Amino acid sequence: MQPDRRTLAPGLEISRILTGLWQVADQEKDGTLLDRGAAAKALAEYAIDGFNTFDMADHYGSAELITGEMLRQWPGIARPLAFTKWCPPPGPMTAEIVRAGVQERLDRLGVDRVDLLQFHWWSFEHPAWLDALHEMKALRDEGLIGQIGVTNFDAAHLHLALADGIPLVSNQVSFSLIDRRAAGPLARVCAQHGVQLLAYGTLCGGFLSDRWLGQKDPGSMGDWSRSKYLRFINAAGGWDGFQAILRAADIIARKHGVSLSNVATRWVLEHAHVAGTIIGARLGENQHRAANLKLFQFALDAEDHALLQTAFDQTVPIPGDCGDEYRQPPFLTASGDLSHHLNEMPKAHEATPDPVVPDRARVFTGSKWEPIAGYCRAIRDGNRIMVSGTTATHGVDHTVAPGDAAAQTTYILDKIAAAVRALGGKPSDILRTRMYLQGMEDVEPASLSHGRFFADFPPANTTFLAGSLIGNFRIEIEAEAVLPR
Ligand SMILES: NC(=O)c1ccc[n+]([C@@H]2O[C@H](COP(=O)([O-])OP(=O)(O)OC[C@H]3O[C@@H](n4cnc5c(N)ncnc54)[C@H](OP(=O)(O)O)[C@@H]3O)[C@@H](O)[C@H]2O)c1
Repeated sequence: MQPDRRTLAPGLEISRILTGLWQVADQEKDGTLLDRGAAAKALAEYAIDGFNTFDMADHYGSAELITGEMLRQWPGIARPLAFTKWCPPPGPMTAEIVRAGVQERLDRLGVDRVDLLQFHWWSFEHPAWLDALHEMKALRDEGLIGQIGVTNFDAAHLHLALADGIPLVSNQVSFSLIDRRAAGPLARVCAQHGVQLLAYGTLCGGFLSDRWLGQKDPGSMGDWSRSKYLRFINAAGGWDGFQAILRAADIIARKHGVSLSNVATRWVLEHAHVAGTIIGARLGENQHRAANLKLFQFALDAEDHALLQTAFDQTVPIPGDCGDEYRQPPFLTASGDLSHHLNEMPKAHEATPDPVVPDRARVFTGSKWEPIAGYCRAIRDGNRIMVSGTTATHGVDHTVAPGDAAAQTTYILDKIAAAVRALGGKPSDILRTRMYLQGMEDVEPASLSHGRFFADFPPANTTFLAGSLIGNFRIEIEAEAVLPR
């Protein structure tokens, strides 16, 4: 018996249990690399058993090199699939930078084409992420990339990328009995565009197993994976709620004659938009392959779902949408607090001080109209910031997501937030927005995007039906912010 398979894209059929290699980085964290030959042999054993789809990233220790070694030695024609990620720091994403990032993946894997290259971006306020994806699309057309995916994209930005013509096939996100965000708005975007999810954290690093049933809160953990998911457990309301989920999953497991971990993974796999779950492997240590195959021998029924729902009610939802844990508090990552890291990220724009008036500064975002029509994107005077009517113009003159009010609103609000930040403010300082819409049909999508962005700090808002926006713009937004004294 082998794991079920699913078509991720035409010609790309994956094992529904992918083998995750972040654990390699944890195993190598003291600086000693795994023995490449032995680790490659261990990977080959996964592949032979049908677990032949591997997930890694540029920063997962020597995982790409180990996989490259395994592929070199692989005797068969249908070689295993090597999915990796490129997670560049924000900054300009020129064709050369993107090509170099992709070429490094090819070199480390020793292949001519990356089967699936997944892109991560730290801050959507830095708009170069769209440049990177367009360059990746060009490299896909050139044959260096098989398919393009993203990782840790929320629903709004996944929709935006797709609406701007990026042919994404997948989004890799956290999804588990503890973190159920991916069943929300992201599921609707997946259904709308036919994009599928690759789910990680389905076992919360091993916390979702019999081993932790009835145990006390360990307080802290030594390995990165469990350190991360302990934060998720706490963000979901704490240890008692987690134990309620374990107890419910245990009852269901006993009923079906499977393990608690099988129930946890099965719950994720049964969501229609989930192509597969990525289960982390500690090479040379525990394998769990035979146990994980049991996943495909049972299905959850209505009674199981009702029981799990009762347990969910004893937890609180993880805040925000998928991927927010990398971009804003609470930082639910292995190291916990990424705020210093994010503060070191280059700003999307720089402020230009007024040459005459002290305490006045302007931001220009590079639109070709700024110099022609004589305006700036935003201006700060003392503690007041005024942001010009902003459209979804990317760079000099690219209209983002033509005709799509929801996507354009997302793009515009990121641009406004970046301008406010360049002038020393933050999005929550925005006290007023005005939205100018092209037509009645734009009201709902634009409002939903505005509502998502401002969920926690709603400004005063006025919405106009302009009816005469130029080009393919469905919406223009202006804003005012006041910095706290
Ligand atoms: N895109 C991203 O931002 C991101 C973030 C995190 C992870 N990932 C990907 O997802 C992969 C999964 O990693 P994860 O950290 O989320 O861990 P995980 O898959 O939730 O947990 C893996 C651990 O679960 C335990 N396990 C596996 N099968 C089991 C079974 N049948 N019964 C009991 N325990 C079982 C093993 O623990 P023991 O080894 O202790 O037995 C294993 O190390 C990573 O390797 C990476 O590829 C991606």
